Amino acid sequence: MILLTGGLGYIGSHTCVELLKRGERIVIMDNLSNSREEAMDNIKAISNAGFIFYKADLLDKESMRKIFRENKIDAVVHFAGLKAVGESVVKPLAYYKNNVEGTLNLLEVMEEFNCSKMVFSSSATVYGSPERVPITEDMPLSTTNPYGTTKLMIEQILQDYAKANKQFKVAILRYFNPIGAHESGAIGEDPNGIPNNLMPYIARVASGKLECLSIYGNDYPTHDGTGVRDYIHVVDLAKGHLKALDRLAKDDTGVFIYNLGSGRGYSVLDIVQAFEKANGIKINYKIVERRPGDIAKCYADATKAWKELGWKAEKTLEDMVRDAWNFEQKHR
Ligand code: NAD
Ligand code: UFG
Repeated sequence: MILLTGGLGYIGSHTCVELLKRGERIVIMDNLSNSREEAMDNIKAISNAGFIFYKADLLDKESMRKIFRENKIDAVVHFAGLKAVGESVVKPLAYYKNNVEGTLNLLEVMEEFNCSKMVFSSSATVYGSPERVPITEDMPLSTTNPYGTTKLMIEQILQDYAKANKQFKVAILRYFNPIGAHESGAIGEDPNGIPNNLMPYIARVASGKLECLSIYGNDYPTHDGTGVRDYIHVVDLAKGHLKALDRLAKDDTGVFIYNLGSGRGYSVLDIVQAFEKANGIKINYKIVERRPGDIAKCYADATKAWKELGWKAEKTLEDMVRDAWNFEQKHR
């Protein structure tokens, strides 16, 4: 059995679908702090398969023990965490507690039940302001906000734990910018309130729920002056987790780190134009001041994941913007 913490969230739900499609038996735990129970029905409908669900919190160790007691968990895919950069600046303690303490609890319970395989959701944010692009896994790490620091701290904890416990193996996946949704439109990203991230914001401008996209700066040293990122279709990203689990099924132990990105950089205006072209909708936008903390360019060198996992992003930018819009229309 594979346990997915935070398995009803955006990336987790898509990974559940891919695991179920492959015939894996899964257990999902989630405290529903940033997801809804209805995601369960949608996962089941898309994959035509069932799973076990626990409404539980990582911070409640006894409820974590119950999951491991009642199921033979071979590996954990650890998505659960708080992820809003801006909120983490305002509520750092909540972020350290949930993300770091939650992961420590999980590792302790895994150890109690002799479970020694983990796939961990890290982020390109651990590269801070990268000195060059594309970014390789061996580049220096630093962070600029508490959310990013929780990811870096957890990576360090996993490294130290793997040194001390020779049975333990972990795949640290550094995601770049996941966007898009399952092609059915049944699951996708639906942030509460006004979205912080580019793609959900564009989708809401397209549907008329928000008036105008603010583009944060057009004076960056990029091909059109707007920020460049590595957008990756969430279904491609989900498939990367299956490849990481296959990697952990091999005999060797330790820490395996992979960038999961497309390896391509697109600017904000590239994304707006691709959305307009694929969906035939005009997006109102205005150029405003840079957003504090943003960097000019961030995109992956994903060669290591290809060489060692046999994984690469396959979907196009057109797929991403079309599926994001399909989800927005079906969902709201
Ligand atoms: P999400 O918020 O949609 O999913 C996270 C899930 O974890 C939610 O369903 C939430 O209810 C649950 N959760 C949070 N704290 C919990 C706790 N203490 N106990 C149990 N459940 C808890 O986020 P996502 O976009 O699917 O991201 C998944 C992971 O990937 C996160 O760790 C995130 O930091 C990381 N990540 C996301 C992105 C991105 O852009 N989406 C980029 C890099 C890394
Ligand atoms: N942007 C706008 N207007 C908006 C929102 C975003 O112009 O309303 C721009 C940003 O300035 C940036 C690009 O669109 O140039 C992407 O911004 P996002 O907020 O969508 O994504 P970020 O790259 O800033 O951050 C995301 C996640 C982080 C994660 C990071 C890893 O939000 O949690 O990717 O690369 F750490």
